Amino acid sequence: MTELILDSPRARGLFVLTAHPEGCRVLSERMLARAERAFEKPLASAQGKTALVLGSTSFGYGSSTAIALRKAGFDAIVGVGFETAPAFRGEKLAMSSPGWYLTHALHQADDAYRTYLADAFAPATRDRVIEDLKREGRSIDLVVYSVAAPRRTHLGEEWNSSLLVVGDPLEVVGLNFKSGQLEDLTVPAADPLAVEHTRRVMGGDDLEMWVSALLHSGLAAEGMTVTALSYIGPDLEPLRRMYWDGALGDAKKHIDATTAALNTRLAERVGGKAMTVMNPAVVTAASVAIPAMLRYMSDYLGCDDAGKGEYADPLQVGIDFTGALYGEGEPWRELLDDAGRLRLDGRELRAELQDTIAALWREGKPGEPPALTRTGLERFKREHAMLYGWQVEGVDYGSPYLVDPELAEPQRVVNLIE
Ligand SMILES: NC(=O)c1ccc[n+]([C@@H]2O[C@H](COP(=O)([O-])OP(=O)(O)OC[C@H]3O[C@@H](n4cnc5c(N)ncnc54)[C@H](O)[C@@H]3O)[C@@H](O)[C@H]2O)c1
Repeated sequence: MTELILDSPRARGLFVLTAHPEGCRVLSERMLARAERAFEKPLASAQGKTALVLGSTSFGYGSSTAIALRKAGFDAIVGVGFETAPAFRGEKLAMSSPGWYLTHALHQADDAYRTYLADAFAPATRDRVIEDLKREGRSIDLVVYSVAAPRRTHLGEEWNSSLLVVGDPLEVVGLNFKSGQLEDLTVPAADPLAVEHTRRVMGGDDLEMWVSALLHSGLAAEGMTVTALSYIGPDLEPLRRMYWDGALGDAKKHIDATTAALNTRLAERVGGKAMTVMNPAVVTAASVAIPAMLRYMSDYLGCDDAGKGEYADPLQVGIDFTGALYGEGEPWRELLDDAGRLRLDGRELRAELQDTIAALWREGKPGEPPALTRTGLERFKREHAMLYGWQVEGVDYGSPYLVDPELAEPQRVVNLIE
């Protein structure tokens, strides 16, 4: 147990290596309070239910959705995420993940959470989760698939996902996080093997295995709902090419095909359903290193600040998700698109916002970005720092805090990572 004063993050290039424990704790408390306000009264159809949230540990969509579900009345949240313990070099903190501190804070606040720190792709993880659920006699009412992974190992093979385009390379003006300048860049094209590898990491194979395991072991509750989070994004051509029409989009289309097949299986087996959920773009650690996405997100946040559009953070989207699935009158039915996907990305796709962003992209040239992009980038930087517990208002960064809180059985955490 080590207490340290951490006044600034360690970083390697654009990647933040150390999170701030107190910053993460304060942020998670604020999320809990917001979700509590959103669900002053529990939702009758959420009460008593158990969710399995795969990818539950970062300040991204998984944890936010889990928090909203719990505050809406879910009885238990079983999470899986890949987080390693804080590591030291001598006396100094060398590495610590926000997910470690977030998980600690959530588990301190509420004993309804159980989290597996483990590789969701590994059969041993599935086996262990299933074994524990069986022992407790607890079946799953809702699966939220929110894993975002750079690689997957399966039967001794390793695949890496990529954000490459399909067809010709893409020439685009992106935004540089460090310099704050717009710059020309080329996104290379993926070969068919890279597309296939991305599909194997971010497509539906793993989701299908989790759901099959729940069905085969009799742990899929009557009416079990399976949701897989996805992104389609706006029509803006460069973004469409990078995501929906790119290697990642191919994987996401595979998710669509997987949820469609699961929908039929679940309806037959347990009277349940499966659907893809199209979430809006949010500030994430990954977008820092993707200049085109950084530009788009900065424009989006700039528009939000200027009253030309509305940005929803992951918690707001988690609240929307919970309300859609468990609110009175089955609101989700009204939110399905023609392909049967739940659309929670309405704010992002609204015409005023997209027209403003499209105009900025038509005019954008390498060099100083327009004022709206600049203010958006400043906000992006703040929100990005907060993903790691930095720049959180009210936190005293001059005080010492415990930097290696325990996450083990007493905290209802099963750590399967060597
Ligand atoms: N970020 C966005 O803007 C955005 C927009 C729409 C949809 N989505 C989708 O939402 C989902 C979640 O994205 P996010 O931005 O919240 O990601 P994130 O990086 O914040 O979280 C990913 C989670 O997956 C976990 N994870 C990664 N590899 C793992 C492994 N091998 N085993 C177990 N857990 C593992 C991480 O620990 C973390 O809990 C993805 O499907 C993504 O495509 C994201």
